[in-house]
Amino acid sequence: MPCKDMTLFYSPASPFARKVIVLLHETGQLANVELFDVQLSPVSPSGDVIARNPSGKIPALELANGDTLHDSRVILDYLDHQHSGEPLIPRNGARRWQRLTLASLADAILDAAILIRYETFLRPQELHWPTWLDAQQEKIERALSELETQADTGQLQRFDIASISIACALGYLDFRQPQLGWRERFARLASWYEDISKRESMLSTQPPT
Ligand code: BEZ
Repeated sequence: MPCKDMTLFYSPASPFARKVIVLLHETGQLANVELFDVQLSPVSPSGDVIARNPSGKIPALELANGDTLHDSRVILDYLDHQHSGEPLIPRNGARRWQRLTLASLADAILDAAILIRYETFLRPQELHWPTWLDAQQEKIERALSELETQADTGQLQRFDIASISIACALGYLDFRQPQLGWRERFARLASWYEDISKRESMLSTQPPT
């Protein structure tokens, strides 16, 4: 096993894992964590992950004492307590709940987009359910509309938990739904995303091509 303090079980395609790695970059903790790339899908789980997280889901973070944390929200919260800079998740007050709720909306985009991916990529064609697929896509569209408002009112200026989650959600849409054309409908969000995409944390964690 690796000699670093912690091991992150992840896949380069997982946007939930990407959030964690972006936070590691942004908080200067990347060198403390061994990245352990696992191959998995909902129908072919990884033994390495199941041994640490019974749900079989990534990301999972094994700590130096052998405990394993999951899911991404728990890991992000933990890691944000392990650095001495300004927290990326506000510790208390109304702002904490506002930023976590906004991060949750970004995660809802990911949940819907990943469900669409599994339905269209893993499930046999004759079993696809168009009404259900449309409902997931509509969820994404509604969330993007709210994020456009947030971008417009200056709520995404700091690259904190909410902004990281939104950035990774938009990156995943580009990765798995390149035909979506969201930039045409959400211009302010597109402009924000273009700017933050230049950050080293985002450039070095792009999904595989
Ligand atoms: C994907 O390939 O889209 C994917 C991989 C891991 C987790 C979630 C999604």
